[in-house]
Parts: sequence; structure tokens; C-alpha cells
Amino acid sequence: PGTLRVALLGCGVVGSQVARALVEHADDLAARAGARLELVGIAVRDASRPREGLGTVVPADLLTEDAERLVDAADLVVEVMGGIEPARGLILRAVAGGASVVTANKALLAAQGPELFEAADAAGVDLSFEAAVAGAIPIVRPVRESLAGDHVRRVLGIVNGTTNYVLDQMATHGLDLEEAVKEAQGLGYAEADPTADVEGFDAAAKAAILASLAFHTRVSIDQVAREGITGVTADDVAAAAQTGHVVKLLAIAEQTAEGVSARVHPALVPAAHPLAAVRGAFNAVFVEADGAGPLMFYGQGAGGRPTASAVLGDLVSAARDRLSGGKGPSESAYASLPVLPADAA
Ligand code: HSE
Repeated sequence: PGTLRVALLGCGVVGSQVARALVEHADDLAARAGARLELVGIAVRDASRPREGLGTVVPADLLTEDAERLVDAADLVVEVMGGIEPARGLILRAVAGGASVVTANKALLAAQGPELFEAADAAGVDLSFEAAVAGAIPIVRPVRESLAGDHVRRVLGIVNGTTNYVLDQMATHGLDLEEAVKEAQGLGYAEADPTADVEGFDAAAKAAILASLAFHTRVSIDQVAREGITGVTADDVAAAAQTGHVVKLLAIAEQTAEGVSARVHPALVPAAHPLAAVRGAFNAVFVEADGAGPLMFYGQGAGGRPTASAVLGDLVSAARDRLSGGKGPSESAYASLPVLPADAA
């Protein structure tokens, strides 16, 4: 088969696992994609810093600090650096140059999605983001593609692994918030700045993405009402247990008579409810659709290998699309469902 050149932007918990898989599973990926996916470089801020996560199979000389040059040399660009800039500029540069892009960057999509999707459509390339919501769980594709002929009413989920881990540790081991967050950081679940997890920004970004997909409209993170878990005390968790409940940080997106509403807040979930059984850093998303009825998606929502799994799936799809001359679903053609402001949710 031919070869497609892959540029990797970012080499953290997720990026290092993507790099390893591209090297270790090169033959399998080539067979599935229809072309060899050749890792041509990994853009990082400091190329001299040793990267244990890469293991011994990924050549260290792939590391570069010149992300723009790397992007210009690629057919497929994987953005797992996070944050708004320089990720946004590099993605726009990639699509303008005709590369397909795979990103796990929920914060960027929830803030600047329309601009990026329009640029990708104009260039006729894929911009895929399965890994941006709930890590390994296939949820973007099912909502966007499998349910395209149905009518979604409501999406309800646990979409942040760190806060679920923290609440779970508080409930089962009596840990306090700071201790549990430190553990989540050590396990590679937390964001670089764990404030994004505990204050609910990460879940709000995912709620915005899910609401946009489910309701074929544009929901930005500013339109998501948000309350994190910093106000949840050990006493709250214990009191909930006494009445047969579990405290969970829920992301909720629904279509009401007035418009689309999206919110994130701690909620008391009855112990018998399936969401109460979502332990540790696992995530779960419920989708209620008119035809399909209730659907439940469950799995690992954070961590290097689970999130890399979703990235690699998108990468294989994007490679197939390039080889067939096709393009994945467009995200820039949307109906005009009204979205309620965050303070009305
Ligand atoms: N910090 C995120 C979480 C990682 O804890 O779920 C996945 O987006």
C-alpha cells in the first residue's frame, strides 16, 4: 500500500500512547487504513526533555519544536496538545494545507468549533474528534451518524473521569478532594490544570459538544450552566449514602419547548440507577431518542491508552476517507434550533 504521513502535536499522556501504537501496530493499522500511517514527527514544547511515555520503540529524533513545519509536511495531523493556542492555529494551518485532522481537544471545540469545522469543510478534509468526549467510549460517531435518522430528546452522562474518581474515593475511602485529585493526576486522568476537572469546565465542554451533535445546533461552552464538585463535602457524600444515593457530576443536554438546554452539576443519583454503578474514572452516557429509546454507552473516559484508542480509530477512518476521495460528516451545516443561555438552564 501507499503511505500517509502523520504529524503528532503533543506528547503527553495521550500523545505518547498514540505514538507508540503507530509504531508498534504499524502493520495492523496499515492493513485497516489501506496505507501505511508513517509517524513523521512529534511536536513538543521542549524536545530535549526525556519522554519515558514513548518507551523504546519510538525514535527520539522524531521530537521537534517546529510544529508548523511538521504540520506542513503531513497528510494527517493528530492534535493532542490541548488548550486553545497554539492548537487552534495549527489545526487551521493543517486544514488550509489540505491535511485531515484528528483532535481530542474538547476545550477548543467547545469554544471555537464552528470556525474549525467551516475551515475543514471548505478544504474538503475531515476534522474528527471521537476522543474529545468520554475517552475510549464511542459516543460522537453513534450520536452523529448512527442516530442521524432518529430524534434525540436528552443526553445524560458522567463525562469527567477525574471528578467521578474523586467522588468515588470520597464515598468509599473517605479521602478528601485534594488527595483524590492527586491520585487522579498520578493515574493520568486529570487535565494539566485539574481546576478544569473539579470546577466542571471539562464536563461543560463535553456537554456543549454532545448537545451540538445531538440537537444539530451550535452549543458553545458559554451556554452550558456549570457547577463543579468543589462545594461537595465528605458530609454531603455520607448523607447521600444514608438516604440511598450517590453523588455524581452529571452533564445534561436536552431539548425543551423553549430550546436546547445544557448544564453540568453535582446530582444525587439513586443507588439503584445504572449511573450510580459507574465507578472510578469510568464514564457513561445515556441517550434517549424517540425511535431508539434509551441507549447507554459505558467505558473508560480518561487515561492514555483508552483515549489513544479513540484517536487511532479516527485516524484510520480519516486515512480511509482520503484514500477513497471521500469526506466524513460535515459539522458546519446546522439547523437553527435555539440554544438557551446558561443562566436559563
Ligand atoms: N480530565 C479528563 C477526565 C480527561 O478526567 O475525564 C478526559 O477528557
